Amino acid sequence: MKTAAFMGLMSGTSMDGIDAALVDLESPQPLLLATHREPYPEPVRAALERTVREGASLREGLGLDVAVGECFGRAARALLEHCPETHQVQAIGHHGQTVLHVPEGDWRSTLQLGDPARVVAATGVPVVADFRRADMAYGGQGAPLASAFHYAVLAPQTAPDSACVVLNLGGIANATVIFPGQPGRTVGFDTGPANTLMDAWIQRCRGLPHDHEGAWARSALADASLLDSLLADPFLDRRPPRSTGREYFNLDWLVRGRESLVESLAPAVVARTLLEFSAVSISNALDETSPQDADVWLCGGGVHNRLLCESLTERLYPRKVRTTDAVGVPAAWMEAMAFAWLARQRMLGLPGNLPSVTGAAVALSLGAVYLPPVG
Ligand SMILES: Nc1ncnc2c1ncn2[C@@H]1O[C@H](COP(=O)(O)OP(=O)(O)O)[C@@H](O)[C@H]1O
Ligand SMILES: [Mg+2]
Repeated sequence: MKTAAFMGLMSGTSMDGIDAALVDLESPQPLLLATHREPYPEPVRAALERTVREGASLREGLGLDVAVGECFGRAARALLEHCPETHQVQAIGHHGQTVLHVPEGDWRSTLQLGDPARVVAATGVPVVADFRRADMAYGGQGAPLASAFHYAVLAPQTAPDSACVVLNLGGIANATVIFPGQPGRTVGFDTGPANTLMDAWIQRCRGLPHDHEGAWARSALADASLLDSLLADPFLDRRPPRSTGREYFNLDWLVRGRESLVESLAPAVVARTLLEFSAVSISNALDETSPQDADVWLCGGGVHNRLLCESLTERLYPRKVRTTDAVGVPAAWMEAMAFAWLARQRMLGLPGNLPSVTGAAVALSLGAVYLPPVG
């Protein structure tokens, strides 16, 4: 008999493309079997950017839902071809692409594009999608969802009387603070931006998708008055649970009320200031929520930004900062693996959220199941 495998499909706020991970979750530690990365075709990426920035008509949104669904379907099909003979894929956890996330107010909800039926049609495999809304219906923020997986992976590897932090450096940075044996004490929240402002700034100034290894930021020093002004943002004072996105932290936010200051600085100085803003807002948030001796495990694309990692290592001292590779989860694939895990939880009727993290009233098995044709 073949061993069960689950696939996770994720594209985060950076919109840098779809991460697809095939995972064996049958042993105590998850085993990454195969991976695939599917970039968005440029027109789809540009349409997504525009939709996040300006909204879209219903007809445009529906068209984009199908186009994104087909991209996710292609990613899944490509990865299926790399499934080892020994394994059979039971279900695909399909996050989709968030275009709007409204965690506060009267109409709290969230919208991920990428028609799940298209992913079923492309693969013939059951697809679990729409992971966030049930949590929100029960009073949660619908985010962060990867925290329960972080707990499942790290709690068994952490000494009982200590704590650790998983810090995901995507477009937005989110942290999970783990106390082994006490899932109800787990805290998970967005600290603020990791890469999204840096990406947007280098795109605007130099037409590049990201600051490779942080080299551009390294060429300058941060400006203290801009840094102080950014750090005064009220989101950073909020207690967890809290979540945010690029609909909040974007270039409009950067210049609002400080246009002349931003324009008066050399672009590289702004780049360095944005990097330090990410590092300081993260370290302040961890100072408030985690003990000084907690190990910090980094994951997400930001681990490739060497300067950001150096700044974090310095600011988080005496905490030890390493990537999750050291605990068996390749840093770039953590989030995609989390959605494979969430799909398995759903298929087995097990909880996917941690109420202490999202703020939901109850534990829920998250996601809706889309099945392949009968017979
Ligand atoms: N070599 C690199 N140097 C600097 N930054 C990088 C590098 N590779 C990836 N990144 C950053 O990581 C981001 C993608 O991280 P990812 O975890 O996929 O985020 P998201 O979940 O938001 O998609 C990119 O937008 C970029 O800012
Ligand atoms: Mg990404």
